[in-house]
Amino acid sequence: MAEKVQISIDGRTVDLPTLVASEGANVVDVRGLIAEGIYTYDPGFLSTASCDSEITYIDGGAGILMYRGYPIEQLAKQSNHLEVCHLLLNGELPSPAEYDALVKSIADNQDVDEQYQQLFNGFSQGAHPMAMVGAAVSGLAALHHEDTDITVHEDRVKTAHRLIAKIPTIAAMAFRHGAGKSFIAPDPSLGYAENFLNMCFGDERDISPTIAKAMDRIFILHADHEQNASTSTVRMAGSTDCNPYAAISAGISALWGPAHGGANEAVLDMLNEIGDESKVEEYVAKAKDKDDPFKLMGFGHRVYKNFDPRAKVMEESCHEVLEELGAEDEPLLKLAKRLETIAREDDYFIERNLYPNIDFYSGITLQAVGIPTNLFTVIFTLGRMPGWISHWHEMLSAPYKIARPRQLYLGSNARDYVAIDQR
Ligand code: CMC
Repeated sequence: MAEKVQISIDGRTVDLPTLVASEGANVVDVRGLIAEGIYTYDPGFLSTASCDSEITYIDGGAGILMYRGYPIEQLAKQSNHLEVCHLLLNGELPSPAEYDALVKSIADNQDVDEQYQQLFNGFSQGAHPMAMVGAAVSGLAALHHEDTDITVHEDRVKTAHRLIAKIPTIAAMAFRHGAGKSFIAPDPSLGYAENFLNMCFGDERDISPTIAKAMDRIFILHADHEQNASTSTVRMAGSTDCNPYAAISAGISALWGPAHGGANEAVLDMLNEIGDESKVEEYVAKAKDKDDPFKLMGFGHRVYKNFDPRAKVMEESCHEVLEELGAEDEPLLKLAKRLETIAREDDYFIERNLYPNIDFYSGITLQAVGIPTNLFTVIFTLGRMPGWISHWHEMLSAPYKIARPRQLYLGSNARDYVAIDQR
């Protein structure tokens, strides 16, 4: 039952209602405070629920991640990414007819405008792929500004389908441009992940079902993570009623940071730094040394304090891919396995619940598949697209306000301007 919270400030007492969550923590509704001239202070939003949402639920302590109530383990093992896209966007798993319609819509929207080739050619070959992908998604705003009415449900769904369909094409174009290779057109007869891999590697090799399945699983596992930094960025930008492609490209920028989407890249950087299996003990000792800033990348999690439910299913795919590619004996991957074994057996890691997280296994899998490390965050972008667009759609489907936080001002008090010759 909802309770009231009472706060007293400057001799006044204010009653605040609580709002009841369907799962997890209830929240104190502080909206009434503004009428009292009181603001709350919460840098980094650690104690703030910025919105209500029906899309994703996380219980970090219990290692639970659910999309629309479905546990991530079931979705990763039994569903596929396009089905999950429908689920996130619409709230329910698709019927067979709805699924067929989505597959057709995605196939119809995979191509990007021919002039996009020029956009990529405008970047140097060494440009970071996240910069190219952000620019290309932002550029879709130029193509779809007049024909997108964000107040119309059908236009929002059309926008979602366009973005989910085009992001693999854009991501593959960024990869091919960086590799100095010509683009490969999307093939609508292929599955979602298989088509992406084919646009990356189709001129060199066939895409095996094991690798396509692992990539699809990476997309599912990254598809949403409630109000993280990039999703909150999309909501904040979208709350200004800006063009949706612009709002999504703001989210892409936020994802790029190493504190958010860059961790799987950091795993590979760390493995390369360790360099040799014989050095593993030395680096584990560094990670345990309080005076050394080194940490084992791909271990631990801010939210999941017992285990990362995504890591368990990713571990399975990682081993399937390594086995199929016969890559288990590659030096870097042997090194990763050694690190994983030591960390799982060492008291320091056991006592602190530091187990390998999703980035550990997705980083190793992507490396084995031949994805360059600077494309890892692009793969995350591709997976997260349905989450971002579903949150944007959810926000616009109900009354909302422009996001406009206040601040605790600590600057100068009022003072008079001093002419430059008198300073
Ligand atoms: N290696 C060695 N020690 C660690 C590590 C690590 N990776 N992570 C945490 N610790 C230690 C930390 O030093 C502290 O020790 P003590 O209690 O003796 O002071 C203890 O474990 C608790 O750590 P914390 O810093 O309080 O934990 P946190 O919740 O603030 O940090 C984290 C979580 C993910 C930032 C951190 O574990 C970390 O930096 N991990 C490596 C980076 C990484 O893999 N990040 C990806 C996470 S998954 C991405 C996603 O979901 O989007």
